[in-house]
Amino acid sequence: MTTINILFGTESGNAELVADDIAETFNNAGTNAEVVAMEDFDVSELSDAGTVVVITSTYGEGELPATTQPFEDNLLAQKPDLTGLRFAAFGLGDSSYETYNNAIGVLTKDLTGLGAVQLGETGRHDAVSGDSFTDVATSWAKTIIDLL
Ligand SMILES: Cc1cc2nc3c(=O)[nH]c(=O)nc-3n(C[C@H](O)[C@H](O)[C@H](O)COP(=O)(O)O)c2cc1C
Repeated sequence: MTTINILFGTESGNAELVADDIAETFNNAGTNAEVVAMEDFDVSELSDAGTVVVITSTYGEGELPATTQPFEDNLLAQKPDLTGLRFAAFGLGDSSYETYNNAIGVLTKDLTGLGAVQLGETGRHDAVSGDSFTDVATSWAKTIIDLL
């Protein structure tokens, strides 16, 4: 069975928890999903990756976390042909910032700009909401399963 890589970039660890919840929800539905830190994933493998999930928080003033930035930098430098790639996207942020969930928007724009097709809607966790990461991530993952 093809592996679905669940790629996360994080500053303080929340996105990794979300990645684990999404992988568990996918795997309970019979897929073979694997969590990988974005900084450990070789962008040149994206063209043949089939389907991936990208997850990132936003830091600073709308910036990408340090563990997301190298993936973005390599994407812009290598410009791989991603016409064969399908991806789903989930962002973590805080709506008290004007730059709410900017980083996942940046990644989504750049992946689609290289030809990748997004599955479903971008999921978002808002730290202000008080909702649990697991509840939001699991509900969103269930909306994506049927599209895989
Ligand atoms: C110093 C700091 C800056 C932040 N800047 C933003 C921001 O610009 N936009 C946003 O939506 N969230 C912002 N956040 C909220 C984080 O994205 C949110 O807390 C998220 O859950 C962190 O996930 P992580 O642990 O995976 O990095 C910021 C949080 C901190 C502590």
